[in-house]
Amino acid sequence: MKILVTGGAGFIGSHVAEFYAEKGNEVVVLDNLSRDKLLNKNIANKEYNWNYLKKYKNVKLIKGDIRDFELMKKYSVDCDTIVHTAAQTAVTTSVTNPSEDFSSNAIGTFNMLESARINNVKKIVYCSTNKVYGENVNNVGITQTSKRYNFEDDYKNGIPENFPIDLCEHTPYGCSKLTGDIYCQDYSRLYGISAGIFRMSCIYGTRQFGVEDQGWVAWFTIASILKKPITIYGDGKQVRDVLYIKDLINAYNQFLESKIKTGVYNMGGGSKNTLSLLELVETIKDLTKISPKISYSDWRPSDQKVYISNIAKVQKELNWKPTVTPKDGVAKLVEFVNNNKSIF
Ligand SMILES: NC(=O)c1ccc[n+]([C@@H]2O[C@H](COP(=O)([O-])OP(=O)(O)OC[C@H]3O[C@@H](n4cnc5c(N)ncnc54)[C@H](O)[C@@H]3O)[C@@H](O)[C@H]2O)c1
Repeated sequence: MKILVTGGAGFIGSHVAEFYAEKGNEVVVLDNLSRDKLLNKNIANKEYNWNYLKKYKNVKLIKGDIRDFELMKKYSVDCDTIVHTAAQTAVTTSVTNPSEDFSSNAIGTFNMLESARINNVKKIVYCSTNKVYGENVNNVGITQTSKRYNFEDDYKNGIPENFPIDLCEHTPYGCSKLTGDIYCQDYSRLYGISAGIFRMSCIYGTRQFGVEDQGWVAWFTIASILKKPITIYGDGKQVRDVLYIKDLINAYNQFLESKIKTGVYNMGGGSKNTLSLLELVETIKDLTKISPKISYSDWRPSDQKVYISNIAKVQKELNWKPTVTPKDGVAKLVEFVNNNKSIF
């Protein structure tokens, strides 16, 4: 199989590229190495994943932009599959620079789909997000304890795929990703491309360069170990379901090996694998014996107090389930950061 991975120098994309390279496939990675610029952060080793993939002779690395349609068309020729991970990834920077966000997430995804249509690519995977449900999630009743918020009973198993997506605020990131999500569904229905659309909650794991604006599990772990201060926006009781990267890639692969034409899935650890920010700090403390320096600031726009994916559909249709608990996953991350302090 020949597979194009957009954003393949990023966290999720590089794990996808590695997974399919290990299986002996021809992998093309297309990335413009812009994570640091997009997030306005100095990421010490921004080319780490790019260089990491150089050990695979069957991975071809192309430095390029998904907004360049001719380039997208050129590198999707003869591909069986595209896994589209490239994006502007943070809500915060989408608010300060909506134009950059729209061009990469909406237009870039459209370019990917048009290239797939023209080149007769059979299958795509799209990295969507829980942010497509926007502020509607905050209409779900919640309860709270000293360390976390919880959904009330009606949603105790999480948010299902038919949860309302409109008539609320989303932030530009939510809008641009939803644009891509709906386009992928339509291209699948209209042009017969098989599309797996994964509306992901929080994915974490090794080789993730988490920063304050994106990738909170990795950021809290890196900051704790490197003794950098952590700001918690809100009260820290926000809860997310968390999914270890290996489990995510297995789900993508289950989809790509299936005969499903259009699959829209809420994707995360589900109700059995959740963490609040405060609980993550405790978990890291237990594992490292480090107490990070924490300060508190105002809530971020449209932050969801609780988001938990209802994963019943993905479990059933893809015969898949999460296998790594938050405690074990965070332990793997702690081990990785401890062994690679100089790259952060
Ligand atoms: N990590 C998560 O928890 C999470 C949750 C929900 C959705 N997502 C989605 O998953 C995808 C991957 O996220 P990630 O965590 O791996 O982020 P990441 O920043 O590590 O990877 C994204 C990659 O895309 C590249 N990129 C950005 N704009 C580009 C452009 N215009 N042209 C070419 N390359 C470009 C970046 O250089 C980067 O390497 C994104 O689409 C994101 O919206 C991630």
